[in-house]
Amino acid sequence: MDVDLVVVGSGFFGLTVAERMANEHGARVLVVERRSHIGGNAYSEDEPTTGIEVHRYGAHLFHTSNERVWEYATRFTAFTGYVHRVYTTYRGEVFPMPINLGTINQFFRSAYGPDAARALVREQAAELDAVLAGREPANLDEKGVSLIGRPLYEAFIRDYTAKQWQTDPTELPASVISRLPVRYTYDNRYFNDAHEGLPVDGYTAWLERLADHPRIEVRLDTDFFDTSQPVHKDAVVGNVPVVYTGPVDRYFDYAEGELGWRTLDFEQEVLDVGDFQGTPVMNYADLAVPYTRIHEFRHFHPEREYPDDRTVIMREFSRFADRGDEPYYPVNTPADRARLLAYRGLTEREHDERGVYFGGRLGTYQYLDMHMAIGSALSMVDNRLAPRVRV
Ligand code: FAD
Ligand code: NA
Repeated sequence: MDVDLVVVGSGFFGLTVAERMANEHGARVLVVERRSHIGGNAYSEDEPTTGIEVHRYGAHLFHTSNERVWEYATRFTAFTGYVHRVYTTYRGEVFPMPINLGTINQFFRSAYGPDAARALVREQAAELDAVLAGREPANLDEKGVSLIGRPLYEAFIRDYTAKQWQTDPTELPASVISRLPVRYTYDNRYFNDAHEGLPVDGYTAWLERLADHPRIEVRLDTDFFDTSQPVHKDAVVGNVPVVYTGPVDRYFDYAEGELGWRTLDFEQEVLDVGDFQGTPVMNYADLAVPYTRIHEFRHFHPEREYPDDRTVIMREFSRFADRGDEPYYPVNTPADRARLLAYRGLTEREHDERGVYFGGRLGTYQYLDMHMAIGSALSMVDNRLAPRVRV
């Protein structure tokens, strides 16, 4: 095979590796992608009847405080001034999220200042102190109450989390939430990063520019494990260095068992109204509503000229993934962590003996924001690939 590097997967991790290795280090890179489009989960496309950009695998908001990643990203796209904000519907009333002074005062029909609100939440969060008597919360329910008190926890966290996990929070490990930040100001800006925005001409244009180099070839509809096509695992590994960004358990034929993931189901609809909900993302906190949230994509790009009599919405449902479902969020039970450790042993050997590099969210079994995937790809190129891949 006449290439210096094979990259499996064309998400942000794989494309960043391909771009750097081809452009900065002169490597000829072959990218194989199982799907019929590039970009991994950040891929977006225009809904054909309205022209509204839809993020096919869930809404993607770009934000970072990593200056290197920001500088790198802006070589390939400009960003709009979009600032992310989220609201939630609870029992027929809309509240700002994350929980902030506005949420608290609306919920308790009060006019607390920061100190009074802090004191109230502290008092409510002490409810379980006697019950716990010094021990750690035994499940997510106890943890939630002990972090922010029962009223706010039960309204805004409990049932939403139950829907995300399809599991009653008394059955969920406390580790599912590490903290529940409450803001004692009216600031409901969702992210706190130095840089935030959406790609001016869309995610796919950005992703295509990463791949647009004479030394990069992308083969779509090509599964690395499909032995009927030439660039499959057995034909490549050991002969050419490989960066693998697919699921790590799949690479080893599930030898150490399957790693657990949650997946999402999306229900997209074009409506004959100009504006359905007045905001990009509305969460639904009530258990009786089966979806967790609704995205309305026109609001991600208020600067664009979209039709004023039609809109695209997407309802999001959450559940445990079966094999064959898209893996979205690691479940990360103790059993998963034990399996992951076993896979780490295998990936180290595969790296040392056969030149395979595991990266990205699927290859390392961890949730990565886009800026983290890009940052970790840049580090892999500098520290591990550039010194080792011979051109
Ligand atoms: P992926 O994008 O998953 O790319 C992996 C690629 O490998 C895929 O294209 C896959 O088809 C391919 N592949 C797998 N197996 C094979 C095989 N056998 N052969 C060939 N190809 C294969 N990040 C943010 O910063 N902001 C957000 O708001 C945000 N929202 C998100 C919402 C959801 C629902 C999800 C799931 C993720 C979100 N992310 C967000 C994270 C973002 O999607 C990831 O950071 C990014 O996808 C990571 O890129 P990656 O290359 O590691 O993985
Ligand atoms: Na998101």
